[in-house]
Amino acid sequence: MKAALLKSFGGTDLITIGEVGSRDLGPNEALVRVEAASANPLDLKIIAGYMQQVFPIRFPYVPGTDFSGVIDAVGTEVTNTRPGDRVFGRTAPSAGGAFGRNVVIEATDLCVFPAEMSFEQAAALPTAFGAARQGLFDVGHLQRGQRVLIHAAAGGVGSMAVQLAHHAGAHVIATASARNIELVKSLGADEVIDYHTEDFTQVRNIGLVLDTIGGETLEKSWSVLSAGGRIASLVEFGIKPRGEQAGEFAFFASATPYLPEAVRQFRAGHLQIIIESIFPLDETRSALEKLATGHARGKVLVRLSN
Ligand SMILES: NC(=O)c1ccc[n+]([C@@H]2O[C@H](COP(=O)([O-])OP(=O)(O)OC[C@H]3O[C@@H](n4cnc5c(N)ncnc54)[C@H](OP(=O)(O)O)[C@@H]3O)[C@@H](O)[C@H]2O)c1
Repeated sequence: MKAALLKSFGGTDLITIGEVGSRDLGPNEALVRVEAASANPLDLKIIAGYMQQVFPIRFPYVPGTDFSGVIDAVGTEVTNTRPGDRVFGRTAPSAGGAFGRNVVIEATDLCVFPAEMSFEQAAALPTAFGAARQGLFDVGHLQRGQRVLIHAAAGGVGSMAVQLAHHAGAHVIATASARNIELVKSLGADEVIDYHTEDFTQVRNIGLVLDTIGGETLEKSWSVLSAGGRIASLVEFGIKPRGEQAGEFAFFASATPYLPEAVRQFRAGHLQIIIESIFPLDETRSALEKLATGHARGKVLVRLSN
């Protein structure tokens, strides 16, 4: 099958397009004909070789974890889905494979999505929606009425997090650059701070910071917390509590538990899925380069079929 391929660690310039063999289906697996896949910063970290301790890969590696498509075949023990179903999901990062025409995956890791959701919209969801939900609620314990500061609100995770926090009844304060302020407000932010021209530490009494940036942004974020406030960091795995303020890393192990909720929120009209751009498979490298700018608005997609 045709796929984007990585044969050694380095930059996105090493991504080529080629043919790889497909493996046989196990009894609990499904073969998905991939229609769309989305890029995530984790893909770039894997390509660079930074994730070998956590998510080891072998070459040739087909990058990408988040995909949507149609089931072509299922193993003998599969009961939750069948050929012809429109499904989406996330492969294990060590397996990758989303930027390839076919994915083989445990069938229980797939979720059926409705006809009113496009393949591109579905492929945009697994990591961005799941990490936003996990960071805000499982790790962040966000409560109705709480003030939450969401960094990088125009990005993949941030654009989902703003909507989830808004619909959960939080007061949402977000950071973005000027060109994205109206977009982030339209997603439900009550206040948007242009991080290029304003100091976000002007805000106070924040119950939860969702940190998607790390470094200096994370360091400065401690000062905006209320007594007993909390930082959920998606970036700094070494984060620790400071005094009575909590700090915890959100490790996104699996998207599977969050997929049905993403469909429910979409059906309820609570989820706009912001798509920065869509590239054909042959231009997967350009898609990853777009993401690598660090300034994508929403999600960068790759279309697998013509
Ligand atoms: N822990 C986990 O398991 C986990 C899971 C998912 C994601 N993550 C991490 O979370 C981070 C965000 O992921 P993502 O998919 O949302 O990335 P993304 O889509 O590439 O984020 C791009 C956005 O970041 C904004 N941005 C860049 N610098 C900023 C700054 N200093 N302040 C505020 N906004 C800034 C940009 O906004 P402007 O264009 O407006 O500047 C752009 O919209 C990544 O580091 C990713 O690896 C971790």
